[in-house]
Amino acid sequence: MSSIAVLTSGGDAPGLNAAIRSVTKVASARGVSVWGVRNGYDGLIDGDMRPLTRHIGKTDRLSPIQEVESMGSLGGTSLGSSRSVRFRGEEGRIEATRRLGEYSCEGLVVIGGNGSMEGAHALATESDIPVIGIPSSIDNDIGLTREAIGVDSALNTIVDACDRISDTARSHHRAFIIEVMGRDSGYLAMAAAVATAADAVLLPEHGRSRQETMSSIIEVIRSSFAATREKNRVLILKAEGVKIPTEEMVEEAGAAVSNLRNVEVRGTVLGHIVRGGSASFRDRLLAGRFGLVAVDALLDGRTDMMVGWNLTADGLPTSDSWIRLFGLQEVIEETEKLRNGTSDVILDRLQRMEDIQGVLSL
Ligand code: F6P
Repeated sequence: MSSIAVLTSGGDAPGLNAAIRSVTKVASARGVSVWGVRNGYDGLIDGDMRPLTRHIGKTDRLSPIQEVESMGSLGGTSLGSSRSVRFRGEEGRIEATRRLGEYSCEGLVVIGGNGSMEGAHALATESDIPVIGIPSSIDNDIGLTREAIGVDSALNTIVDACDRISDTARSHHRAFIIEVMGRDSGYLAMAAAVATAADAVLLPEHGRSRQETMSSIIEVIRSSFAATREKNRVLILKAEGVKIPTEEMVEEAGAAVSNLRNVEVRGTVLGHIVRGGSASFRDRLLAGRFGLVAVDALLDGRTDMMVGWNLTADGLPTSDSWIRLFGLQEVIEETEKLRNGTSDVILDRLQRMEDIQGVLSL
């Protein structure tokens, strides 16, 4: 294999640039040149690629271009991304395969979330181009990897924001409902609730009705601000997947506790702030390790697989004891179970939340 391509697809996440850097550095060290595809699968269909490696002087040896060396600390993705509609159709994938041939690419690394892994699986099974996926998504909703690239950085941003909000909440004796991204997954809200010692967490996985949800919020605020308590802040983490708009929650809860003296309810939707910024140490490390295993998998003749941080599931062992390779079909099935709540991972998370229910609202 003398040339591969790399692309980033779907919602960006901190650590994508570190992953691109890793793929490029490992490939060039192995004598393989790398094409960076602009704007995800859309760029692949359009043949919008640029070289990420160059020859050293007049030798055959390769090195990453200067931009790659310095991109690791940047947020977002230097290659650009897209949620490609065209790639969902077979025609788009046929054109993408043709483009890879045009650039003499003999392998492809796809860095992205669950939709991107589905695209990678389709391409790998319909063409003779070997494809390896690297999981990245702040939502942590990709099967068979303990974490995807971006989760740790997103959580650091959420924790920092909650600390700041707690400062002002304590000063004004307020309850705050903070909404965090995650699409249908409550992982970010759950993990951040533990890390910030929040008073409650609202997860889509709980499947509670509107009434149950509102009653639990109101109860937490009432009991926390009871005259016998010394609490001066209430922090409630709400996952985006809980379908009651935060503004409505704040209004309803505020009205319900308006008889308590000096207690007010406010809301903040953190939104895309959580997706931006420089990647944490752990995301950069994970990106580096995923990149190495992904490129070596391509060079070993593997295809239709994803690298996953997993110490327990079967998978194919790799040179990195933390990382295994999983068939993309299996990844897609496990991802669906995460989404519909039947995965053991979700059941375990809910059990752990149940176990600390009292602790959260103390
Ligand atoms: O999948 C990542 C994510 O940030 C989700 O948490 C969120 O629901 C979605 O993307 C937002 O998408 P967009 O950036 O297209 O608004």
